[in-house]
Amino acid sequence: MISEALRQQLIDFYRSGKSMIILTGAGVSAESGIPTFRGPEGYWKIGSKNYMPQEIGTLSMFKKNPREVWKWYLFRRTVCQNAQPNPGHKAIAELERMMGDRFRLITQNVDGLHLRAGNTLERTYLIHGSLEYVRCSVSCTSKLYPFPKGIGPKDRDSEVTEEEWQALACPDCGAMTRPHILWFDEYYNEEYFKFKSSHDAASRSELLITIGTSGATTLPNQILDTFDQAGKFIIDINIEPNLFSHTALESKNGHFLQGPSGEILPELVNIFKSAR
Ligand code: APR
Repeated sequence: MISEALRQQLIDFYRSGKSMIILTGAGVSAESGIPTFRGPEGYWKIGSKNYMPQEIGTLSMFKKNPREVWKWYLFRRTVCQNAQPNPGHKAIAELERMMGDRFRLITQNVDGLHLRAGNTLERTYLIHGSLEYVRCSVSCTSKLYPFPKGIGPKDRDSEVTEEEWQALACPDCGAMTRPHILWFDEYYNEEYFKFKSSHDAASRSELLITIGTSGATTLPNQILDTFDQAGKFIIDINIEPNLFSHTALESKNGHFLQGPSGEILPELVNIFKSAR
């Protein structure tokens, strides 16, 4: 499925010593059993009403109904904790080991699977945050805290005990913490979400591989634009045509590989290995 011409281009890139970016979305974790955002399971219920993640994942919903929002994230975190990195995550970790500082991973995923697969936090930009951290909901400080101990696994309908709510209090001021997630009504910044670092990486890199994203968020689109406008090397990997594959195919040096990331990424690693 990878053409001979593209294979050669990848070998030339590997030998060039230039830098690359891997940009991932929920699709890379689909083969680990984590539902994507815009797939069929991507909604949640409060009372009798169904909400889309775009409605639950907002600061305004958290202000109105913090415990219900937390319950949704406790359930999502349980799903992620129960999941294991798949061959796609492992291939991306292998790419970092092979490329060293020529490599940056920019991920929209908050599930923690890239780091569990072996990517390093130094070279991984968690641009939508992480379920593994919390912070004070009234910003008494800007510190991030590791997700507190003592909170059991939750399904969609689980109750949260008073002790568990206590564990979710800010260690500094006692107010409720919030998930360290970039919500739909919030903005990227450098301090929490590596906005500038991501742009800098895009400017200095020559290859962008986008994987399993529907292209609905702004920073990933800006990164793709940077590559598109400069006519740099782009590959989109997705099980179906999408916004990014269309841009890639219209771009001067863009390619679309249609299929599951857990199958295509190990193939790319093997091509790089053959270039050594
Ligand atoms: N391999 C490759 N791609 C896949 C696979 C797979 N096995 N399974 C699904 N996909 C693709 C889908 O075709 C779709 O294009 O993954 C994409 C998932 O898209 P979304 O659910 O929209 O997820 P994502 O792009 O990560 O969403 C971006 O929006 O909801 C917010 O903040 C949230 O980070 C999220 C952001």
